[in-house]
Amino acid sequence: MIFIEGNGAKIPAIGLGTWELRGRTCARIVEQALRLGYRHIDTAQIYENEREVGEGLRASGIKRDDVFVTSKVWTSHFLPKDLERSAKESLARLRLTEVDLLLLHWPNPQVPLAETLGALARVKQAGLARHIGVSNFTVALIEEAVAACPEPLACDQVEYHPYLDQAKVMEACARHGLALVAYSPIAKGRIKGDRALARIGDRYRKTAAQICLRWLVQQNVSAIPRTSKLERLQENINIFDFELSEADMREISAMGSADGRLTDFGFAPKWD
Ligand SMILES: NC(=O)c1ccc[n+]([C@@H]2O[C@H](COP(=O)([O-])OP(=O)(O)OC[C@H]3O[C@@H](n4cnc5c(N)ncnc54)[C@H](OP(=O)(O)O)[C@@H]3O)[C@@H](O)[C@H]2O)c1
Repeated sequence: MIFIEGNGAKIPAIGLGTWELRGRTCARIVEQALRLGYRHIDTAQIYENEREVGEGLRASGIKRDDVFVTSKVWTSHFLPKDLERSAKESLARLRLTEVDLLLLHWPNPQVPLAETLGALARVKQAGLARHIGVSNFTVALIEEAVAACPEPLACDQVEYHPYLDQAKVMEACARHGLALVAYSPIAKGRIKGDRALARIGDRYRKTAAQICLRWLVQQNVSAIPRTSKLERLQENINIFDFELSEADMREISAMGSADGRLTDFGFAPKWD
C-alpha cells in the first residue's frame, strides 16, 4: 500500500467509501475489505453507519492501529459546544477511543469558520482525533482555514475523477501540505462504461475503474471508492502492480472539465 502524506498524516492511498452502505451489508463489506488488504475506511456521522463500520473493523481481526478511520462532522454541529459532543458521539458509535481523521463535512457559512476550526483543533488536542481536516473546501476556504486553524489540516476531501478538473484545489492543497482525498473517485460508477479508459486498460490488462483509480493515486491523491460487491472490493485495490505512462496520464487528465461535477447542493460553496 502506498501512503499519501498530509501535514503529518499518512493516509493509505486507497480507502473504502461507505456512503449508502447500511446495516449488515456495511459491516460485512468493511470486514471483507480489511481482510483483502484495505487499511482505510471512510465514514461520516450523516451516513448513519458508524456503528456498523466499527463492527466490521472488530470482526476483521485487523489491529485497530493498522487501520486509518475517517469520520466527518455534519454541518449542523459546527457551533463549538456541539462539535465536541458530536465527535464523542461518533466515537461511541464506532466504539473507538479516537479516529485517525475527523473532517468538517461541508463548509457552513452560518458559523464563523475560525470558531468551528478552534473546536475541531481542541478535539484533536483532547486525543479524540489523530488528525483533522476539511471536505468540500474551495481554494478560498482552504486559505481561510489554514490561516485560522490552530492545528495543521491533514486533507481536503473533494469530488475528483477524470470528468472533473480539480487542478486549482490540488494546487492549493499542495501549497499548504494538505493531502487531497478524492470522493466519488470512479464518478459514482460511470467510469465503468468509459470507452477511452477501457481502451487504455486493455494495454495494462486492467479495468476502466482500475485505470481511473491508478490515475488518481499516481497524482499523489488518496481515493475512496465505494462498492457493495466483494469482487469489486478486490478490483478497486488491485492497482499497485502497474504504472500508467505519462502519455496515458495526460490523456486521462485531458478528459476533465469544470462542469463534470456530480455532487452539488444548494448549500455548496461557490466552486472554483
Ligand atoms: N465528503 C463528501 O461530501 C462526500 C461526498 C460523496 C462521497 N463521499 C465518500 O466517497 C465515497 C465514494 O464516493 P461515491 O460513493 O459517491 O462514489 P464512487 O465510489 O465513485 O462510486 C460508487 C458506485 O460505483 C460502483 N462501483 C464500485 N466499484 C466499481 C467498479 N470496480 N466497477 C464499476 N462500478 C463500481 C458502486 O456500485 P456497487 O456497490 O454495485 O459496486 C457504486 O454504485 C463515498 O462512499 C463516501 O465515503 C464523500
